[in-house]
Amino acid sequence: MKIAYLWGLSLLLLVSCNGYKPVVIVHGVWDLRDSLYFMADMIKEAHPGTEVHVLDLLHGWKSLAPLWYQVKSFYKRMKPIMEKAEDGIILIGYSQGGIISRGIVESMDHNITTFISLSSPQAGQYGDEFLRLIFPQYIKETVYEVFYSRVGQRISVANYWNDPHHQELYYKYSSYLPYLNNEIEHYFNEDYRDNFMKLKQLVLIGGPDDGVITPWQSSHFSYFNKNENMTDMRDQSFYLFDSFGLRSLDKAGKVKIYEVPGVHHTVWHHNVSVIENCILPWLD
Ligand SMILES: *[C@@H]1O[C@H](CO)[C@@H](O)[C@H](O)[C@H]1NC(C)=O
Ligand SMILES: *[C@@H]1O[C@H](CO)[C@@H](O)[C@H](O)[C@H]1NC(C)=O
Ligand SMILES: *[C@@H]1O[C@H](CO)[C@@H](O)[C@H](O)[C@H]1NC(C)=O
Repeated sequence: MKIAYLWGLSLLLLVSCNGYKPVVIVHGVWDLRDSLYFMADMIKEAHPGTEVHVLDLLHGWKSLAPLWYQVKSFYKRMKPIMEKAEDGIILIGYSQGGIISRGIVESMDHNITTFISLSSPQAGQYGDEFLRLIFPQYIKETVYEVFYSRVGQRISVANYWNDPHHQELYYKYSSYLPYLNNEIEHYFNEDYRDNFMKLKQLVLIGGPDDGVITPWQSSHFSYFNKNENMTDMRDQSFYLFDSFGLRSLDKAGKVKIYEVPGVHHTVWHHNVSVIENCILPWLD
């Protein structure tokens, strides 16, 4: 009892002496410049003194630029923040920003200790709701003809378009997601895995009323199989083979999954209870 109390007290002192780690936020497709400041303000209010950086680049049409280009561009902005952060930083990626963030975590030299993926299609995307927002002229059954080509891969969305009925073409043409999953052999496989495993905490937030991420379970690394039934994260081959370290992190108790009902895709970053319950607890 006494020891627990002392321990709690010293932990409290430790936290208040060291302050909080800087938080970096990466936005999604279309995101308007100001839409993430609500979350940033809430973080600063709950944890006074926290440095919060909403990275302000690649908005509007530019958010459709190829993801490897976006990974480099966002990383360039993060590097000076990391260099000053002795205890590392916390990275929050919203929607497509979560897929960009994973690219940074795996492919760049970093000291991100906690990565929070807020409603991001980590296992890919296959749904009309999403296309309608961006390419209303296409439907999910046929858009692979455009996306799975060298020219198509110059659009961010194509980089994580994962059509369960055209997996051969996906692996042949997709220049991003299968690489992050380490499902394709390349020179940096081991680096990707080592970099990912530097994370001390991975937080995956998503829910059944998202309405845009399809299947919504992709926010938890689960995905459609070829019959469009769900393969759970822990049954995915990239998990079973531990190809990029997800299984290792999970086995070490470093993966936290939140399934939150009642939140539409466009309001995750404005929802007070989501920020309070699923994000703030991981920021110290
Ligand atoms: C954090 O990462 C940056 C960029 O790689 C590096 O310059 C810095 O020394 C690192 N700091 C720590 C404490 O690891
Ligand atoms: C897919 O799910 C449907 C309905 O839930 C089920 O009837 C069917 O047997 C499943 N197919 C496979 C191959 O698992
Ligand atoms: C906010 O999130 C809660 C779940 O934490 C949900 O029940 C509620 O409907 C959400 N509110 C909005 C406006 O999305």
